[in-house]
Amino acid sequence: MKYPKEYLDEIKTRLKVSTVVSKTVSLKKRGKEYIGLSPFKNEKTPSFTVNDEKEFYHCFATAEHGNIFDFVMKIQNLRFGEAVKHLANLAGMQPYIFSKQDEEREKKWKTYSLIFSQYVDFYHEELLKNESYSFVRDYLKDRSLNKDQVKKFKIGYVEKKPNFFEKLKNNFNIDDLLETGLFYFDEKKKIYIERFKGRLIFPINNISGQPIALGGRIIEKSDFLAKYINSPETNFFKKGANLYNLDLARTLSNKLDNIFLVEGYMDVIGLSKNGIENAVANLGTALTDKQIFTLNQFFDDIVICFDGDESGYKAALRAAENSIKDLKPEKQISFLFLPDKEDPDSFVNKHGKNYFIDYSKQNKISIHQFIFSHYKKHTSNNPSSMAIFDKKLRTIANAIKDDYIKKYVLEYFLEKISDLTPHTSQNRKNFFIKKTKSLETTKKHFNESKSLSGVELKEFSLIYLIINNLNLIQDNIHLVENIKFFTDVNKQIFEKILLKLKSGEKLSVEQLGIDAQLIGKIIKFAPIKHILKNKLNNDHEIIEILDDITRDLNNYDLEFRIQELESKFSRDLSEATFNELKELKKKQNIN
Ligand code: UTP
Ligand code: MN
Repeated sequence: MKYPKEYLDEIKTRLKVSTVVSKTVSLKKRGKEYIGLSPFKNEKTPSFTVNDEKEFYHCFATAEHGNIFDFVMKIQNLRFGEAVKHLANLAGMQPYIFSKQDEEREKKWKTYSLIFSQYVDFYHEELLKNESYSFVRDYLKDRSLNKDQVKKFKIGYVEKKPNFFEKLKNNFNIDDLLETGLFYFDEKKKIYIERFKGRLIFPINNISGQPIALGGRIIEKSDFLAKYINSPETNFFKKGANLYNLDLARTLSNKLDNIFLVEGYMDVIGLSKNGIENAVANLGTALTDKQIFTLNQFFDDIVICFDGDESGYKAALRAAENSIKDLKPEKQISFLFLPDKEDPDSFVNKHGKNYFIDYSKQNKISIHQFIFSHYKKHTSNNPSSMAIFDKKLRTIANAIKDDYIKKYVLEYFLEKISDLTPHTSQNRKNFFIKKTKSLETTKKHFNESKSLSGVELKEFSLIYLIINNLNLIQDNIHLVENIKFFTDVNKQIFEKILLKLKSGEKLSVEQLGIDAQLIGKIIKFAPIKHILKNKLNNDHEIIEILDDITRDLNNYDLEFRIQELESKFSRDLSEATFNELKELKKKQNIN
């Protein structure tokens, strides 16, 4: 079976030769080429060269020469089909599934791309030359676009009453013409319509530079026509899979490692006119994983620069939440927000290239900063809102696929959260100092109990419950045996009680031998007494309450340990700490 050329070309355009070769050979850049030690021969001075532009490697020692497929076949001893599978995977593409329709699809693609290029060429020439289109050229001039940009982007103009369909009909059959999405059949009038009539057209190319779809803008303001329309999906154009201008921008990836991702055609063109060629547009649809992946094949640093209005902000947030999952080590995604009412096109036209680049360097924020500051803005300083905030950020961090990135983003979030809540996020000692309100309402009582921590009050409740139900607890000693106390005094009291209970003798409170003052304090402050006061207090209920308090104390313990680990983790970032944390959090959720 033969692989379609379209598929092989896509692999080749997605993978630089140097990317593939550098998996086996360590390469150094030398001018436009890379050099390294030949993988085909034992040598001390490098005679192996790679040229990304020409898409081949050459070994001067052995005269070996070829493209990425040849290289992989040679090095890994694979057959052609296996090399294709291997490289498609590396390029992030689905393995090719052969079917009977393949040959037909290949034929269809040839026709499709032929129709498209004839269409684009025809209307491009018209725009450049047709006398009667001077009003269109004036519009472009108004937007300060000149011939260079029109040519570079092959912009065209489709007249209001076009008849190119009639010409094409002589060379192509109607079904093929309809499949391009350039035309449709008007059921009412029973005629074929050019979808882009009366519009400026911007060809959207595939990665190899062949037009596969169009964007079309109206020139005069209109209340009933959309400002822009895009081609419908076709067999060869899938929304969310392509980016406007990627075919040109990708050729810069040898020189630049960052790419601007903008919203519109005119943004890309405006930037290009001002000397910023490394820009692509995602054309009004939500940014997809596939688009991020494709950009990352060529550029390490994606700067997402959407319009400075609310819809631009919303689109950016959606893009951030969607793309943070796929963030990879060595890759960066950041966001640039322009002043209100500006888009990249207007902004760069006003201020020029250098200002735009400086502005972007100074104002871009990384994806995790953006997400953090967005959610922080929507959080108020109360426990419930903080808890939702905390949880949301953890969920976002946890969805990140790469473990290392996950680790760093989580660390960043946790540290920022702990800056906001210094009293809860330090260490055990501080936790104890945290004051909890008692249920009692009298001021004196409140002031006294203020000096007690939440943990202490819980422990008081537990001891209160035990000393008031000595017989019951003695018969169910397993319920309290493993409870962990935190404060030293309470721990000592509890251990004393436990010892007595285990001795088996019937006891009264007085026989426990606890300092009377301490008992007094416990009875006075144990919040549980307010709950028990109005109840019948049967055994079953007591045990249930005991269970509740025990669970609360265990959760305190978990929380302490989690906090300690989180603070440790933000210092050591070790895998072990991270895993330990994960386990504890799992437990916390179960509890
Ligand atoms: P904008 O309205 O921001 O357009 O839409 P723009 O790029 O600034 O265009 P000009 O400067 O007015 O010419 C951004 C992108 O959203 C899509 C298009 O892809 C456009 O480039 N869009 C916009 C549509 O698909 N339909 C519309 O009606 C408007
Ligand atoms: Mn604009």
